[in-house]
Amino acid sequence: MKILLLGGGGREHAFAWKLSQSKHCTKLYIAPGNPGTAQHGENVPIDPENNAAVADFVEKKGIEMVVVGPEAPLVNGVWNYLRRYPSTSHVAVIGPSMQGAKLEGSKAYAKKFMKDFKIPTAGYREFFATKSTLALNFLRKKATLPIVLKADGLAAGKGVVICQERDEAVAEMAEMLDGKFGTASRKVVVEEFLSGIEFSVFVLTDGDSYQILPVAKDYKRIGEGDTGPNTGGMGAVSPPPFVDEVMMKKVEERIVKPTIAGLKKRNIEYQGFIFIGLIKVGDEPFVIEYNVRMGDPETEVVLPRLKNDLMELFMAVRDRRLSEVKIEVDDRAATTIILASGGYPGDYPKGKPITGLDKVEGSIAFHAGTKAIDGQLVTSGGRVMAVTSLGKNFREALAVSNKNAALVEFEGKYFRGDIGFDL
Ligand code: AMP
Ligand code: GLY
Repeated sequence: MKILLLGGGGREHAFAWKLSQSKHCTKLYIAPGNPGTAQHGENVPIDPENNAAVADFVEKKGIEMVVVGPEAPLVNGVWNYLRRYPSTSHVAVIGPSMQGAKLEGSKAYAKKFMKDFKIPTAGYREFFATKSTLALNFLRKKATLPIVLKADGLAAGKGVVICQERDEAVAEMAEMLDGKFGTASRKVVVEEFLSGIEFSVFVLTDGDSYQILPVAKDYKRIGEGDTGPNTGGMGAVSPPPFVDEVMMKKVEERIVKPTIAGLKKRNIEYQGFIFIGLIKVGDEPFVIEYNVRMGDPETEVVLPRLKNDLMELFMAVRDRRLSEVKIEVDDRAATTIILASGGYPGDYPKGKPITGLDKVEGSIAFHAGTKAIDGQLVTSGGRVMAVTSLGKNFREALAVSNKNAALVEFEGKYFRGDIGFDL
Protein backbone atom coordinates (compact mmCIF):
# COMPACT_ATOMS: atom_id res chain seq x y z
CA MET A 1 0.00 0.00 0.00
CA LYS A 2 1.17 3.53 -0.76
CA ILE A 3 0.97 5.74 2.29
CA LEU A 4 1.31 9.46 2.85
CA LEU A 5 2.18 10.53 6.40
CA LEU A 6 1.59 14.20 7.26
CA GLY A 7 3.88 16.01 9.68
CA GLY A 8 7.54 16.39 10.43
CA GLY A 9 8.28 16.02 14.14
CA GLY A 10 9.32 13.31 16.58
CA ARG A 11 5.85 11.78 16.49
CA GLU A 12 6.07 11.43 12.73
CA HIS A 13 9.54 9.90 12.89
CA ALA A 14 8.12 7.30 15.29
CA PHE A 15 5.18 6.69 12.93
CA ALA A 16 7.49 6.36 9.91
CA TRP A 17 9.75 3.99 11.85
CA LYS A 18 6.78 1.80 12.81
CA LEU A 19 4.93 1.95 9.47
CA SER A 20 8.02 1.05 7.48
CA GLN A 21 8.26 -2.21 9.44
CA SER A 22 4.94 -3.37 7.97
CA LYS A 23 4.77 -5.70 5.01
CA HIS A 24 1.67 -3.79 3.92
CA CYS A 25 3.65 -0.60 3.46
CA THR A 26 5.12 -0.72 -0.03
CA LYS A 27 5.85 2.98 -0.33
CA LEU A 28 5.91 5.64 2.38
CA TYR A 29 5.95 9.37 1.68
CA ILE A 30 6.23 11.93 4.48
CA ALA A 31 5.14 15.55 4.04
CA PRO A 32 7.28 17.37 4.92
CA GLY A 33 9.12 14.87 7.18
CA ASN A 34 12.61 15.39 8.63
CA PRO A 35 16.01 13.67 8.31
CA GLY A 36 14.75 10.96 10.68
CA THR A 37 11.68 10.09 8.61
CA ALA A 38 13.91 10.07 5.51
CA GLN A 39 15.51 6.89 6.90
CA HIS A 40 12.17 5.11 6.50
CA GLY A 41 10.55 6.67 3.44
CA GLU A 42 10.65 9.56 1.01
CA ASN A 43 10.19 13.10 2.28
CA VAL A 44 8.18 15.40 0.02
CA PRO A 45 8.17 19.20 0.40
CA ILE A 46 4.43 19.64 0.81
CA ASP A 47 2.77 21.81 3.44
CA PRO A 48 0.46 19.43 5.36
CA GLU A 49 -1.91 22.33 6.01
CA ASN A 50 -2.41 22.95 2.30
CA ASN A 51 -5.36 20.68 1.52
CA ALA A 52 -5.18 21.24 -2.23
CA ALA A 53 -1.47 20.38 -2.38
CA VAL A 54 -2.04 17.24 -0.28
CA ALA A 55 -4.98 16.13 -2.49
CA ASP A 56 -3.00 16.80 -5.64
CA PHE A 57 -0.10 14.64 -4.41
CA VAL A 58 -2.47 11.86 -3.29
CA GLU A 59 -4.03 11.75 -6.74
CA LYS A 60 -0.77 11.93 -8.68
CA LYS A 61 1.00 9.21 -6.70
CA GLY A 62 -1.98 6.90 -6.23
CA ILE A 63 -1.82 7.15 -2.42
CA GLU A 64 -4.20 4.72 -0.71
CA MET A 65 -3.96 5.92 2.86
CA VAL A 66 -3.19 9.27 4.49
CA VAL A 67 -2.00 9.14 8.09
CA VAL A 68 -2.30 12.52 9.79
CA GLY A 69 0.25 13.26 12.54
CA PRO A 70 -0.54 16.77 13.83
CA GLU A 71 -3.89 18.38 14.63
CA ALA A 72 -3.70 21.39 12.31
CA PRO A 73 -4.48 19.54 9.03
CA LEU A 74 -7.43 17.84 10.76
CA VAL A 75 -8.86 21.05 12.18
CA ASN A 76 -8.24 22.46 8.70
CA GLY A 77 -10.46 19.77 7.17
CA VAL A 78 -8.06 17.57 5.21
CA TRP A 79 -10.49 14.65 5.70
CA ASN A 80 -13.41 16.61 4.27
CA TYR A 81 -11.32 17.96 1.40
CA LEU A 82 -10.20 14.50 0.26
CA ARG A 83 -13.76 13.17 0.55
CA ARG A 84 -15.16 15.94 -1.61
CA TYR A 85 -13.45 15.01 -4.89
CA PRO A 86 -14.04 11.76 -6.83
CA SER A 87 -10.31 11.39 -7.51
CA THR A 88 -9.49 11.19 -3.77
CA SER A 89 -12.78 10.25 -2.07
CA HIS A 90 -11.82 6.55 -1.87
CA VAL A 91 -8.58 7.27 0.03
CA ALA A 92 -8.52 6.14 3.67
CA VAL A 93 -7.64 8.86 6.15
CA ILE A 94 -6.38 8.01 9.64
CA GLY A 95 -7.72 11.05 11.45
CA PRO A 96 -11.19 12.48 11.98
CA SER A 97 -13.34 14.80 9.91
CA MET A 98 -13.29 18.52 10.63
CA GLN A 99 -16.37 18.04 12.84
CA GLY A 100 -14.51 15.41 14.91
CA ALA A 101 -11.40 17.60 15.09
CA LYS A 102 -13.46 20.21 16.97
CA LEU A 103 -12.90 18.10 20.07
CA GLU A 104 -9.38 19.55 20.01
CA GLY A 105 -9.98 22.68 17.95
CA SER A 106 -12.52 24.18 20.37
CA LYS A 107 -12.28 23.78 24.13
CA ALA A 108 -15.85 25.04 24.53
CA TYR A 109 -17.11 22.44 22.07
CA ALA A 110 -15.22 19.69 23.90
CA LYS A 111 -16.63 20.79 27.28
CA LYS A 112 -20.18 20.83 25.92
CA PHE A 113 -19.64 17.38 24.40
CA MET A 114 -18.47 16.04 27.76
CA LYS A 115 -21.38 17.65 29.55
CA ASP A 116 -23.90 16.25 27.06
CA PHE A 117 -22.54 12.75 27.36
CA LYS A 118 -21.91 12.90 31.12
CA ILE A 119 -18.17 12.40 30.83
CA PRO A 120 -16.35 13.43 34.04
CA THR A 121 -14.48 16.72 33.65
CA ALA A 122 -13.95 19.98 35.57
CA GLY A 123 -16.94 22.32 35.87
CA TYR A 124 -16.77 25.27 33.46
CA ARG A 125 -18.30 28.39 31.97
CA GLU A 126 -17.63 30.05 28.66
CA PHE A 127 -17.23 33.77 28.00
CA PHE A 128 -17.16 35.84 24.81
CA ALA A 129 -15.12 38.88 23.80
CA THR A 130 -18.37 40.66 22.98
CA LYS A 131 -19.41 40.36 26.64
CA SER A 132 -16.15 40.97 28.42
CA THR A 133 -17.72 42.78 31.43
CA LEU A 134 -19.60 39.61 32.31
CA ALA A 135 -16.35 37.62 32.20
CA LEU A 136 -14.37 40.11 34.30
CA ASN A 137 -17.14 40.43 36.88
CA PHE A 138 -17.36 36.67 37.20
CA LEU A 139 -13.63 36.47 37.91
CA ARG A 140 -13.72 39.45 40.30
CA LYS A 141 -16.64 38.21 42.36
CA LYS A 142 -17.56 34.60 41.84
CA ALA A 143 -14.68 32.42 40.71
CA THR A 144 -13.00 30.09 43.23
CA LEU A 145 -9.20 30.12 43.17
CA PRO A 146 -7.06 28.79 41.65
CA ILE A 147 -8.90 29.08 38.38
CA VAL A 148 -8.05 27.84 34.89
CA LEU A 149 -8.45 30.06 31.81
CA LYS A 150 -8.38 28.42 28.39
CA ALA A 151 -8.40 30.07 25.00
CA ASP A 152 -11.13 28.29 23.04
CA GLY A 153 -9.14 27.67 19.85
CA LEU A 154 -5.74 26.23 18.97
CA ALA A 155 -2.94 28.23 20.58
CA ALA A 156 0.11 26.01 20.06
CA GLY A 157 -0.15 24.60 23.58
CA LYS A 158 0.11 28.06 25.16
CA GLY A 159 -3.57 28.91 25.56
CA VAL A 160 -4.05 27.56 29.09
CA VAL A 161 -3.26 29.74 32.09
CA ILE A 162 -3.71 28.69 35.71
CA CYS A 163 -4.30 31.74 37.91
CA GLN A 164 -3.68 31.71 41.66
CA GLU A 165 -4.83 35.29 42.28
CA ARG A 166 -8.03 37.10 41.40
CA ASP A 167 -6.23 40.16 39.93
CA GLU A 168 -4.08 37.93 37.80
CA ALA A 169 -7.15 36.11 36.47
CA VAL A 170 -8.92 39.37 35.65
CA ALA A 171 -5.86 40.75 33.84
CA GLU A 172 -5.29 37.51 31.94
CA MET A 173 -8.93 37.29 30.90
CA ALA A 174 -8.88 40.90 29.66
CA GLU A 175 -5.80 40.17 27.53
CA MET A 176 -7.22 36.94 26.17
CA LEU A 177 -10.55 38.47 25.16
CA ASP A 178 -8.61 41.34 23.65
CA GLY A 179 -6.93 38.89 21.27
CA LYS A 180 -3.79 37.71 23.08
CA PHE A 181 -4.10 34.44 21.14
CA GLY A 182 -5.76 36.00 18.11
CA THR A 183 -9.20 34.63 17.25
CA ALA A 184 -8.41 31.55 19.40
CA SER A 185 -9.12 33.58 22.54
CA ARG A 186 -12.18 35.55 21.39
CA LYS A 187 -13.94 32.89 23.42
CA VAL A 188 -12.48 31.72 26.75
CA VAL A 189 -13.39 28.71 28.83
CA VAL A 190 -13.06 29.20 32.59
CA GLU A 191 -12.58 25.95 34.38
CA GLU A 192 -12.51 24.67 37.94
CA PHE A 193 -8.95 23.71 38.97
CA LEU A 194 -8.41 20.00 39.53
CA SER A 195 -5.53 18.74 41.62
CA GLY A 196 -3.94 15.37 40.87
CA ILE A 197 -1.52 13.49 38.68
CA GLU A 198 -1.94 13.52 34.88
CA PHE A 199 -1.73 10.69 32.38
CA SER A 200 -2.73 10.10 28.78
CA VAL A 201 -4.85 7.38 27.26
CA PHE A 202 -4.70 6.77 23.51
CA VAL A 203 -7.66 5.27 21.74
CA LEU A 204 -7.83 4.15 18.14
CA THR A 205 -11.36 4.05 16.74
CA ASP A 206 -12.96 3.00 13.47
CA GLY A 207 -16.11 4.92 14.33
CA ASP A 208 -17.92 1.89 15.76
CA SER A 209 -15.48 0.11 17.99
CA TYR A 210 -12.18 1.05 19.57
CA GLN A 211 -8.92 -0.27 20.92
CA ILE A 212 -6.94 1.22 23.79
CA LEU A 213 -3.21 1.62 23.21
CA PRO A 214 -0.48 1.70 25.89
CA VAL A 215 -0.95 4.44 28.51
CA ALA A 216 1.70 7.15 28.93
CA LYS A 217 2.66 10.10 31.07
CA ASP A 218 4.13 13.24 29.57
CA TYR A 219 6.34 15.84 31.34
CA LYS A 220 5.12 19.20 30.05
CA ARG A 221 7.15 21.72 32.06
CA ILE A 222 10.56 22.88 30.90
CA GLY A 223 12.24 22.69 34.30
CA GLU A 224 13.22 19.81 36.54
CA GLY A 225 10.73 19.06 39.28
CA ASP A 226 7.92 20.17 36.91
CA THR A 227 8.73 23.87 37.12
CA GLY A 228 8.74 26.73 34.65
CA PRO A 229 6.65 27.26 31.54
CA ASN A 230 4.73 24.60 29.61
CA THR A 231 6.29 23.01 26.55
CA GLY A 232 5.01 20.51 23.99
CA GLY A 233 6.46 17.84 26.30
CA MET A 234 9.99 17.20 27.57
CA GLY A 235 9.80 13.46 28.07
CA ALA A 236 7.41 10.57 28.54
CA VAL A 237 7.06 7.25 30.31
CA SER A 238 4.90 4.27 29.38
CA PRO A 239 3.27 2.76 31.32
CA PRO A 240 2.92 5.15 34.28
CA PRO A 241 2.99 2.77 37.28
CA PHE A 242 0.15 4.57 39.12
CA VAL A 243 -2.40 3.69 36.44
CA ASP A 244 -3.67 0.26 37.40
CA GLU A 245 -6.36 -2.01 35.96
CA VAL A 246 -9.06 -0.61 38.23
CA MET A 247 -8.29 2.91 37.02
CA MET A 248 -8.27 1.78 33.37
CA LYS A 249 -11.64 0.10 33.82
CA LYS A 250 -13.05 3.41 35.12
CA VAL A 251 -11.49 5.28 32.20
CA GLU A 252 -12.93 2.82 29.70
CA GLU A 253 -16.45 2.72 31.15
CA ARG A 254 -16.89 6.37 32.13
CA ILE A 255 -14.85 8.07 29.43
CA VAL A 256 -13.84 5.98 26.39
CA LYS A 257 -17.20 4.28 25.80
CA PRO A 258 -19.35 7.41 26.17
CA THR A 259 -16.90 9.36 23.96
CA ILE A 260 -17.18 6.86 21.10
CA ALA A 261 -20.94 6.58 21.58
CA GLY A 262 -21.24 10.39 21.64
CA LEU A 263 -19.38 10.77 18.36
CA LYS A 264 -21.69 8.19 16.80
CA LYS A 265 -24.81 9.83 18.19
CA ARG A 266 -23.70 13.16 16.72
CA ASN A 267 -23.03 11.45 13.34
CA ILE A 268 -19.42 12.55 13.43
CA GLU A 269 -17.09 10.69 11.07
CA TYR A 270 -14.17 9.63 13.20
CA GLN A 271 -11.62 7.04 12.16
CA GLY A 272 -8.39 7.77 13.93
CA PHE A 273 -6.76 8.46 17.25
CA ILE A 274 -8.34 10.06 20.29
CA PHE A 275 -5.82 11.23 22.85
CA ILE A 276 -7.52 11.68 26.20
CA GLY A 277 -5.59 13.86 28.64
CA LEU A 278 -6.66 12.75 32.10
CA ILE A 279 -6.10 13.73 35.68
CA LYS A 280 -6.42 11.33 38.60
CA VAL A 281 -8.14 13.14 41.45
CA GLY A 282 -8.06 10.81 44.44
CA ASP A 283 -8.95 7.56 42.71
CA GLU A 284 -11.20 9.05 40.04
CA PRO A 285 -10.31 9.97 36.46
CA PHE A 286 -11.38 13.32 34.94
CA VAL A 287 -10.81 14.53 31.39
CA ILE A 288 -8.54 17.57 31.08
CA GLU A 289 -8.63 17.68 27.30
CA TYR A 290 -9.20 15.75 24.11
CA ASN A 291 -6.70 15.74 21.27
CA VAL A 292 -7.60 14.24 17.92
CA ARG A 293 -4.18 12.79 17.19
CA MET A 294 -1.38 11.02 18.99
CA GLY A 295 0.73 12.92 21.51
CA ASP A 296 4.27 14.09 20.99
CA PRO A 297 6.49 12.83 22.69
CA GLU A 298 4.03 10.16 23.93
CA THR A 299 4.03 8.46 20.50
CA GLU A 300 7.76 7.89 20.94
CA VAL A 301 7.02 5.63 23.94
CA VAL A 302 3.66 4.18 22.86
CA LEU A 303 4.63 2.86 19.41
CA PRO A 304 7.85 1.13 20.57
CA ARG A 305 5.70 -0.88 23.02
CA LEU A 306 3.07 -1.79 20.44
CA LYS A 307 3.76 -5.24 19.02
CA ASN A 308 1.03 -5.17 16.37
CA ASP A 309 1.75 -4.32 12.77
CA LEU A 310 0.49 -0.72 12.72
CA MET A 311 -0.72 -1.04 9.13
CA GLU A 312 -2.90 -3.96 10.15
CA LEU A 313 -4.52 -1.74 12.77
CA PHE A 314 -5.01 1.07 10.26
CA MET A 315 -6.49 -1.29 7.67
CA ALA A 316 -8.89 -2.59 10.32
CA VAL A 317 -9.86 1.04 11.05
CA ARG A 318 -10.46 1.66 7.35
CA ASP A 319 -12.61 -1.48 7.02
CA ARG A 320 -14.46 -0.89 10.30
CA ARG A 321 -13.37 -4.21 11.78
CA LEU A 322 -11.18 -2.90 14.57
CA SER A 323 -13.15 -4.97 17.10
CA GLU A 324 -11.60 -8.11 15.56
CA VAL A 325 -8.07 -6.98 16.35
CA LYS A 326 -6.20 -7.76 19.53
CA ILE A 327 -3.70 -5.17 20.78
CA GLU A 328 -0.41 -6.74 21.80
CA VAL A 329 1.84 -4.78 24.11
CA ASP A 330 5.49 -5.30 25.01
CA ASP A 331 5.70 -5.83 28.79
CA ARG A 332 8.78 -3.68 29.01
CA ALA A 333 8.60 -0.01 29.96
CA ALA A 334 9.53 2.73 27.52
CA THR A 335 10.86 6.19 28.25
CA THR A 336 11.83 9.09 26.08
CA ILE A 337 13.88 12.18 26.88
CA ILE A 338 13.65 15.27 24.73
CA LEU A 339 16.82 17.12 23.78
CA ALA A 340 15.77 20.74 23.36
CA SER A 341 17.41 23.89 22.03
CA GLY A 342 18.58 26.32 24.73
CA GLY A 343 15.88 28.97 25.23
CA TYR A 344 12.92 26.73 24.34
CA PRO A 345 9.94 27.21 24.88
CA GLY A 346 10.94 30.85 24.34
CA ASP A 347 13.18 31.99 21.48
CA TYR A 348 16.03 29.71 20.55
CA PRO A 349 18.71 29.58 17.87
CA LYS A 350 18.56 27.17 14.93
CA GLY A 351 21.14 25.63 12.65
CA LYS A 352 23.42 24.23 15.39
CA PRO A 353 25.37 21.17 14.16
CA ILE A 354 24.33 17.90 15.84
CA THR A 355 27.00 15.30 16.56
CA GLY A 356 27.36 12.08 18.52
CA LEU A 357 24.36 10.21 17.11
CA ASP A 358 26.73 7.40 16.08
CA LYS A 359 27.59 6.88 19.78
CA VAL A 360 23.99 6.19 20.76
CA GLU A 361 23.60 2.57 21.82
CA GLY A 362 20.47 0.86 23.08
CA SER A 363 18.13 3.79 22.33
CA ILE A 364 16.31 5.05 19.28
CA ALA A 365 17.01 8.72 18.63
CA PHE A 366 13.84 10.01 17.00
CA HIS A 367 14.34 13.26 15.11
CA ALA A 368 11.97 16.06 16.13
CA GLY A 369 13.43 19.41 15.03
CA THR A 370 16.33 18.57 12.76
CA LYS A 371 17.35 19.45 9.24
CA ALA A 372 20.14 18.31 6.92
CA ILE A 373 22.15 21.08 5.29
CA ASP A 374 24.76 19.88 2.78
CA GLY A 375 24.90 16.54 4.55
CA GLN A 376 25.32 18.10 8.00
CA LEU A 377 22.58 17.45 10.53
CA VAL A 378 21.58 20.67 12.32
CA THR A 379 18.92 21.78 14.79
CA SER A 380 15.78 23.35 13.35
CA GLY A 381 13.28 23.37 16.20
CA GLY A 382 12.78 23.80 19.93
CA ARG A 383 12.50 20.09 20.52
CA VAL A 384 15.37 18.54 18.58
CA MET A 385 15.44 14.81 19.35
CA ALA A 386 13.55 12.26 21.44
CA VAL A 387 15.80 9.57 22.89
CA THR A 388 13.67 6.47 23.50
CA SER A 389 14.67 3.32 25.37
CA LEU A 390 12.99 0.15 26.58
CA GLY A 391 13.81 -1.54 29.87
CA LYS A 392 12.53 -4.06 32.42
CA ASN A 393 11.01 -1.12 34.26
CA PHE A 394 10.94 2.63 33.68
CA ARG A 395 14.03 3.22 35.81
CA GLU A 396 16.14 0.88 33.69
CA ALA A 397 14.80 2.43 30.51
CA LEU A 398 15.52 5.92 31.85
CA ALA A 399 19.10 5.06 32.73
CA VAL A 400 19.72 4.15 29.07
CA SER A 401 17.90 7.23 27.72
CA ASN A 402 19.82 9.48 30.11
CA LYS A 403 23.16 7.98 29.13
CA ASN A 404 22.44 8.45 25.42
CA ALA A 405 20.92 11.92 25.91
CA ALA A 406 24.34 12.97 27.22
CA LEU A 407 26.14 11.58 24.15
CA VAL A 408 24.26 13.56 21.50
CA GLU A 409 25.73 17.04 21.27
CA PHE A 410 24.73 20.43 19.93
CA GLU A 411 25.38 23.93 21.20
CA GLY A 412 22.89 24.93 23.87
CA LYS A 413 21.46 21.41 24.32
CA TYR A 414 19.08 21.13 27.24
CA PHE A 415 17.26 18.14 28.65
CA ARG A 416 15.50 17.22 31.84
CA GLY A 417 17.52 14.69 33.78
CA ASP A 418 14.60 13.99 36.11
CA ILE A 419 11.94 12.44 33.86
CA GLY A 420 9.99 9.95 36.00
CA PHE A 421 11.04 11.70 39.24
CA ASP A 422 7.49 11.61 40.60
CA LEU A 423 6.73 7.96 39.90
P1 AMP B 1 -4.77 21.56 28.16
O1 AMP B 1 -4.19 22.30 27.00
O2 AMP B 1 -6.25 21.69 28.27
O3 AMP B 1 -4.29 20.14 28.24
O4 AMP B 1 -4.11 22.20 29.45
C1 AMP B 1 -2.72 22.26 29.62
C2 AMP B 1 -2.33 21.87 31.00
O5 AMP B 1 -2.95 22.73 31.95
C3 AMP B 1 -2.78 20.47 31.39
O6 AMP B 1 -1.88 19.49 31.00
C4 AMP B 1 -2.86 20.59 32.90
O7 AMP B 1 -1.58 20.45 33.47
C5 AMP B 1 -3.32 21.99 33.11
N1 AMP B 1 -4.77 22.04 33.28
C6 AMP B 1 -5.71 22.18 32.33
N2 AMP B 1 -6.95 22.16 32.83
C7 AMP B 1 -6.81 22.00 34.16
C8 AMP B 1 -7.73 21.92 35.26
N3 AMP B 1 -9.04 22.01 35.08
N4 AMP B 1 -7.21 21.75 36.48
C9 AMP B 1 -5.89 21.68 36.69
N5 AMP B 1 -4.98 21.77 35.72
C10 AMP B 1 -5.43 21.93 34.46
N1 GLY C 1 2.58 16.01 24.59
C1 GLY C 1 1.33 16.62 24.55
C2 GLY C 1 0.73 16.76 23.23
O1 GLY C 1 1.12 16.12 22.26
O2 GLY C 1 -0.22 17.51 23.11
